[in-house]
Amino acid sequence: MKVVRAAGHDDAATDLLVIALTGGQSLPRAFVSLDRALDGALSKPGDFAGRFAEVETVRPMGRSPIQRVALVGLGDASKLDLVRLRNALEIGLRQITKNVRTLTVAWTGSASSGVAASDLAAAAIGAAVRLNWSEATHKSGRRPTVEIKALTLAGFPELDDSRLQAALVLGECANLAREQVNRPASELTPEAFAAEARALAKRYGLECEVLGESDLKRLGYGAILAVASGSARPPRLVVLRHRARHAGGDRLALVGKGITFDTGGISIKPGGDMQYMKGDMGGAAAVLGAMSAIARLKVDLDVTGILCCAENMVSSTSMRPGDVVTSGAGKTIEVVNTDAEGRMVLADGVYHAVKLGATHVVDIATLTGGQRIALGPVAAMIQGSDRGLTGMVIASAAAAGERVWEMPTFVEYETQLESAIADLNNSPGRDGSAITAGLFVREFAGGRPWVHIDMAAPSWNRVPAVRQVPRGPAGFGVGTLAILATLMAEARQKSALRAKSDKTSRK
Ligand code: BES
Ligand code: MN
Ligand code: ZN
Repeated sequence: MKVVRAAGHDDAATDLLVIALTGGQSLPRAFVSLDRALDGALSKPGDFAGRFAEVETVRPMGRSPIQRVALVGLGDASKLDLVRLRNALEIGLRQITKNVRTLTVAWTGSASSGVAASDLAAAAIGAAVRLNWSEATHKSGRRPTVEIKALTLAGFPELDDSRLQAALVLGECANLAREQVNRPASELTPEAFAAEARALAKRYGLECEVLGESDLKRLGYGAILAVASGSARPPRLVVLRHRARHAGGDRLALVGKGITFDTGGISIKPGGDMQYMKGDMGGAAAVLGAMSAIARLKVDLDVTGILCCAENMVSSTSMRPGDVVTSGAGKTIEVVNTDAEGRMVLADGVYHAVKLGATHVVDIATLTGGQRIALGPVAAMIQGSDRGLTGMVIASAAAAGERVWEMPTFVEYETQLESAIADLNNSPGRDGSAITAGLFVREFAGGRPWVHIDMAAPSWNRVPAVRQVPRGPAGFGVGTLAILATLMAEARQKSALRAKSDKTSRK
């Protein structure tokens, strides 16, 4: 998708002109002449009230070069943020963008509307790019017809081009993650996932190393090997590397859970909705998408992405409840529940990141039913061991238009990780289950500043009741992780400048 800018909307020969209005906002003056040409259809548009994702369309029928005009509601202005802006546009436009090739979004804000021009522009880009992706990849009939080739931002005041570029890249890389999440597990095996990562690494200039079963055995990564032991499809640990322009400084590691299918193993899951467990590699997909974005945006920071890929199946070679496995870090784990496999693959992935020299570790996973119960698909749960890094993740999420909510790491929870036979048990019970799952992963971060992102439900909104969050695979986390890298790169640059000026002032 191409993004272009135009001074106004009047001469735009576009398939669809979008006029986005907050609740109760009247038609801005810039549209008066268009409204007149349409016999007042825009200013007296039935009962359009600007409710969230509300849509009203008008066909000019030759009275304008515009094929169709849509009023799209953004909802209550006082509740607007980047998340709601993009979601209102995406959900609203989804109904009317079939066959739309050229889309124009007009500037409709003002000082009083409370919408910043750069936010509306970024949200419009994000929504349009996302509309170009469809779940229907395996239909034998006609392909889906939403294909927005060009988005025109019309009449906007000053915009920061680098922010627009970032919005476009983050949208495209989120689609890449959604694509992987959507792929059936019969196709997206750990091996195929690693091959996909290798191909993308080549395309975007990332270094890529893939550790196979024999490598994992040599390294003693018993936790990921145990999870994979019930599957005919062997595990892969994928290491992607992006380099800063000059060596030195912080080294960020992003570690993603890449369970290509989660049956639960011997502690088998109930059958209902198990098809969604093809998406249990959403964390690794988010890391892959973020690494692609970090490379494309040439972020000046050392970033390592690790995808912990395995399939959790049921067979005579599966790990059993009661088994004890030794992780790469040397810590032993009692497998109390084979369905708590995510924290096990992350244990070895996080340890590997630390071994490669990470100074900061962020892991991301569709880890627990507890996250779903606590926050639903609306917000991911985060936890951290360090205020600075946790604060940065919260700021990154806000800038990316993704919701996160922090949960505690109170010391009392730690006793739940104890085991009579081993160092840790993998299933600390229902009480605070999302919290204790994160604390299990923290055990492998070697005391480095660490943040955990559990996005079990936000990764794929399948709850019909949550209507203000788009349905389907979301590509959640791509934006947050990529922006985190840019914020850390900016902090690095500032401290380098400070060090330089300290040196000169001392002279
Ligand atoms: N992949 C699941 C968590 C999940 C649930 C993701 C719903 C997406 C939607 C994870 O591996 C799991 O099974 N977690 C269990 C662990 C428990 C058995 C200790 C959970 O949280 O219920
Ligand atoms: Mn599981
Ligand atoms: Zn799982």
